[in-house]
Amino acid sequence: METTVQKKRILSGIQPSGNLTLGSYLGAIKNWAALADEYDCYYMMADMHTITVRQVPADLRRNTLTQLAAYIASGLDPEKNVLFVQSHVPAHAQLGWVLDCYTMFGELSRMTQFKDKSAKNADNINAGLFTYPALMAGDILLYQADLVPVGGDQKQHVEICRDIANRFNGIYGETFKIPEPYIPKVGARVMSLTSPENKMSKSDKDPNGCVYMLEKPEDIMRKFKKAVTDSEACVRYDIANKPGVSNLMQIYAVSTGKTFEEIEAEFAGRGYGDFKKAVGESVVEMLRPIREETERLLADKAYLETIYRSGAERASRVADRTVSKVYKKVGFLAR
Ligand code: TRP
Repeated sequence: METTVQKKRILSGIQPSGNLTLGSYLGAIKNWAALADEYDCYYMMADMHTITVRQVPADLRRNTLTQLAAYIASGLDPEKNVLFVQSHVPAHAQLGWVLDCYTMFGELSRMTQFKDKSAKNADNINAGLFTYPALMAGDILLYQADLVPVGGDQKQHVEICRDIANRFNGIYGETFKIPEPYIPKVGARVMSLTSPENKMSKSDKDPNGCVYMLEKPEDIMRKFKKAVTDSEACVRYDIANKPGVSNLMQIYAVSTGKTFEEIEAEFAGRGYGDFKKAVGESVVEMLRPIREETERLLADKAYLETIYRSGAERASRVADRTVSKVYKKVGFLAR
């Protein structure tokens, strides 16, 4: 008799809407790699979400492939993890539509991401931007995921996913596993280098606020040298009063493995110039092998193709089962 214990399942995704940031690496991808043995992991390039904001088609294609290469280069083993492109698995669109019909106008209107994005894209407040949370709920529920690793800004989306799943289960009986948001124990919320009250983001108005995973070392160094600090001239962790220095300490801690006490001791009596240079160098060295491996993988398109094809097949096997179940429950005539 088979006695294998079913591993808990994880699903997450990042939109290929631009270049991956240091924040996406330290806050998400780096932690995902450590989960592969303990969990059954699915990670996607959420390209269907990306078109809720107008994209240049060639850029979207390139960003999607680059993101896959960067996932692998960051240590996501494509055998142990299912790496796939959302639009390659039709079940996402299929379940997304059904869930649109079980998601209320009122609850979608209350989503903070919708309010933010419609303020930023006032000339393109499309229906997809509005129903985005139902598509995302489908992403998660298709895989019957137990856990969804997300940053704080996506927690509201996991909550609405749970509400939608509970509503559907309440009407039709047990259909979906109710997922939990998963905030990894180690992990960093990386803030902008120039306005450290805000999350590091590619949409930062100041291009020096955001460092990219695949950026050239000299550009990374320049951004760290310009990072905002304060006038105290003391390397000390204090988020409320020293957000810039604390953010740099956080980044230095995860890229070197040093504790805050060790960092404070290392820079005691030294100026911020030395400190910022050291943080920049530690980030450059952490990212160097990832950038080189990403470039190497991008030169091997045939290999990347085999990965995303097999990812789409493996993902579809699970996702299609959920769609069949849902179609039957809502009363669609079997084909
Ligand atoms: N909405 C997420 C973001 O913008 C990306 C995403 C899409 C996602 N589908 C998901 C994240 C499912 C976790 C699970 O960051």
